[in-house]
Amino acid sequence: MIPEITVELSSGVLTVTISRADKKNALTNVMYGALADAVERANTDGDVRVLLFQADGDLFTAGNDVSEFAAESDGHVPEVRHVARFLKSITNSTTPLVAAVQGKAVGVGTTMLLHCDYVLLTEDAQLMTPFVNLALVPEAASSYLLPLRIGHVRAFEMFALGEGLPAQQAVAWGIANKIVAAAELRTEARRIAERIATKSTGSLTSMKRLMRDSEKLIAHMDSERATFLERLASAEAKEAFAAFAQKRKPDFTKIVK
Ligand code: COA
Repeated sequence: MIPEITVELSSGVLTVTISRADKKNALTNVMYGALADAVERANTDGDVRVLLFQADGDLFTAGNDVSEFAAESDGHVPEVRHVARFLKSITNSTTPLVAAVQGKAVGVGTTMLLHCDYVLLTEDAQLMTPFVNLALVPEAASSYLLPLRIGHVRAFEMFALGEGLPAQQAVAWGIANKIVAAAELRTEARRIAERIATKSTGSLTSMKRLMRDSEKLIAHMDSERATFLERLASAEAKEAFAAFAQKRKPDFTKIVK
């Protein structure tokens, strides 16, 4: 148990709350570990019928902790990369996954939504995938899933420009189900999760298996990860991480391909 990730079970709904508001809910390796544990528990604990992701503070998550990217880029590799375990857990999850998103959802904050089954956004929600801004490549099988969901040119724009996709567009493009007022977000997400929790779990589990080819997604994710790790060690990525720490824009123009 870590304070940045709280997990609570009631009425068949396992609510997982990201709570590191001072760092905009940026996710560390330890936090990914706790998230992975929760998703794995959802699949094995018979009392869990639905998992609901939510976050404290003004935004869902700023994505991976950039200082941990920088450390890894410099060779400080953690003993276990829990991010891979978390991403595999949501890919393989047969438990329905609901997400309640306010404000920005950056990087994995957006790509994890492609593995969720019901996504609620607030009016101010913005989905951002700025992997190229960090000289990285998309992860979580999003280089496959996002073009599939919204089409190549829209996915390219999101990945390459890294700008926020407004909530209304995200719903229109099929990344999220609906927009709710910020004050209603948690109540409405809970209502949806509890409704799903009353349905036949056997049917939902089998339906999720039929709807998603998780083996294919895992294989794609593995090849993405290999490229991601190559990019992470690149001179361009080091420049991007240094720029983030120094609160300036990266300058890639002097780095030869
Ligand atoms: N990793 C580590 N720390 C992060 C972080 C991240 N992904 N995102 C934000 N923080 C930290 C900031 O460094 C800052 O720390 P400080 O107070 O010690 O200086 C604090 O959280 C507040 O961030 P700030 O940038 O001031 O908040 P904001 O509301 O102006 O902007 C974001 C929010 C999310 C738009 C902005 O922080 C951002 O772009 N973060 C990086 C997102 C990113 O590239 N993630 C990786 C995706 S692959």
